Amino acid sequence: ELSRRAPDAWLRMILRKPSHDRTPEDLETIYEELMHMKPLSHLSNSMKRELASVIMFEAHPKAGTVVFEQGEEGRSWYLVIRGSVDVVIHGKGTVATLHQGDDFGKLALINDAPRAASIIVKEDNCHLLRVDKDDFNRILRDVEANTVRLKEHGKDVLVLEKSPSNSSSTAVKYVVMACTPARMVEHLLESRLETGVPNNDPALDDFLLTHVLFMSVRSLVQELKKHYNMESPHHDKDFKISCKRKVVMFVYQWVSTVRQPVLNDPNALAFVEEISADAESEGWEEAALMHRVMSQINRQQQTSGGVNKWKLPPSGQPISLFSPSESDTSIIKPNDDIIFRVYCADHTYCTLRMPVSATADQIKVCAADKLGLRHKGDDLLLVELKSNGERITFRDSEVSIPTGLTLNGRIFVSQKDHLDALTVIPEQESPTEGLELDLEDVSAKEMAYHITMFDWELFWNIHEYELLYHTFGRHRYSQSSANLDVFLRRFNELQYWVVTELCLTQSLSKRVQILRKIIKIAAYCKEYHNINGMIALVLGLSNVAVSRLSLTWDKLPSKSRKLYTQLESTIDPSRNHRSYRAVVTSICSPLIPFMPLLLKDMTFIHEGNKTSIDGLVNFEKMHMLAQTLRTLRYCRSRRLVLDPPTPKNESEVKAYVRCLRTIDNQRTLTSLSQKLEPRRS
Ligand code: CMP
Repeated sequence: ELSRRAPDAWLRMILRKPSHDRTPEDLETIYEELMHMKPLSHLSNSMKRELASVIMFEAHPKAGTVVFEQGEEGRSWYLVIRGSVDVVIHGKGTVATLHQGDDFGKLALINDAPRAASIIVKEDNCHLLRVDKDDFNRILRDVEANTVRLKEHGKDVLVLEKSPSNSSSTAVKYVVMACTPARMVEHLLESRLETGVPNNDPALDDFLLTHVLFMSVRSLVQELKKHYNMESPHHDKDFKISCKRKVVMFVYQWVSTVRQPVLNDPNALAFVEEISADAESEGWEEAALMHRVMSQINRQQQTSGGVNKWKLPPSGQPISLFSPSESDTSIIKPNDDIIFRVYCADHTYCTLRMPVSATADQIKVCAADKLGLRHKGDDLLLVELKSNGERITFRDSEVSIPTGLTLNGRIFVSQKDHLDALTVIPEQESPTEGLELDLEDVSAKEMAYHITMFDWELFWNIHEYELLYHTFGRHRYSQSSANLDVFLRRFNELQYWVVTELCLTQSLSKRVQILRKIIKIAAYCKEYHNINGMIALVLGLSNVAVSRLSLTWDKLPSKSRKLYTQLESTIDPSRNHRSYRAVVTSICSPLIPFMPLLLKDMTFIHEGNKTSIDGLVNFEKMHMLAQTLRTLRYCRSRRLVLDPPTPKNESEVKAYVRCLRTIDNQRTLTSLSQKLEPRRS
């Protein structure tokens, strides 16, 4: 195209002149040319005029010439005007060929990153136009396409978009919108990591917090190994060492961010050990960082020696959850055993001891054997029967079944066509066994203290990934969210404990005392930053079985009533839970957030955004999910340390708080409430 307009040689000559030697006629000639170049058609005329004075001509007579190498600093942006060039990536070879009208070299400029690929001239007599970095930034930065797409073998592998948020800073930020998992690892290693310094690159953090959704630990390790053992004939030793060190940095960030799940994977653990040893023997700066991580691993291995064993359930409780024996840590791990009952239609049951990671299918088979149920093929179902009679069938692949039960729910195994015959076990409708304690004798502060310490312990055990599995469906990933389950269960337990206590208290004056006490406990929970516990208690008080007890509420001192009104405002869902969110931003870490709302936010993001777009991972979604997961990190950025209130009967209260009696059948509760205070006609 260029050659048709002006005599080729003449144009080349002026395009080779340094900027300050170009005459007005030269500039006019170049401008004329630029006007007709399709890849520049989206630029304004004034930009083309500016370009005319700085754009340079570069000819490459020989095929095989290297325009620049992967890993070099990016100095210019290029446009192919004749011939073609290959885009070559280490370990992959040629991933694309660019022809007349294509441009390249933008990525390094916009990200301030090393060249992501080498560019090699494909045929003799290739002609390029070049704009150097400063000029590119001055003239083109603001208008160059908002989206950058990179292709490998004709398919998009990386889509970057200009980030709108950073208008104030001078460097334009591009964020990855969509990408293949492997390409993302490459992108993070090459453009986001520096050796020696831990960084807090949000893109890396997003990736590490969410990769289990689209890339298994196994394939991530595989990909990292590829980069760690990069074989490339063109490359010198320094390049290879820098590749290795970046992988070490990546792994360091990975282990510090994700902790246990990385170390639990034998593959990953072996790799961590291998590269730490290399870092040590090569004397890389990263050795110290890895050393820290490794000693953390060792410490964890010591403290979690032996498998958690769960005590037999107390009679009346379907599973034993809250009493791991002799273990320092109460975190539930996938291989931990859990003891639970499985019932038949006739209410006989067997007690099973299986790992948390056992699938519904495995439980079904095991229970059927023990119960002597005849079954052929897959005519059996594993179901949860809630205390209100509702039945929920488990999918065969579902894991951590017992921890996911509702409060008084029970696991049943049943023939497919006998599902309707399942009836609630009488004990499901009466209060679970709890410890006896006269609430009037305990100080509200002491109760709140123990409730909060327990909630904190359970909250601390939750891994970020559990929220992902919970949101995306744990059957899809065969991963348990047992610690999250236990925490949510506890939320419901607190809530129904409030209702149960009030509905089981016959004397009006005593009910008033209990109501007063619970309001006070809720207020202390808030003071202790236990927002989750506070909301559980308030929701209990707002349950119809309680709120309809007008005789009780009428006798409540006005001070307590005022306090309750205040607390109650935090559960107002209007304007996307604005008042709750205001409370949370007004207090600082450590704090226990309202978990059901965090999960609702996660679900909202999940349902409103596709996980993959045209076969690429939607990283915009991953970023949003990671933002929510970071809330969790913030809440736990400091350990909760509270001054224990002067204890009156400490161990008794502590034990009581950990084993609350509850009825969770709303019908039962409402009818109890009606007996206490019949409706006035
Ligand atoms: P940059 O990283 O500056 O240098 C190499 C250039 O190759 C890169 O910018 C892109 O403009 C271009 N390129 C084209 N396709 C790809 C690809 N699949 N991966 C990496 N770079 C590519």
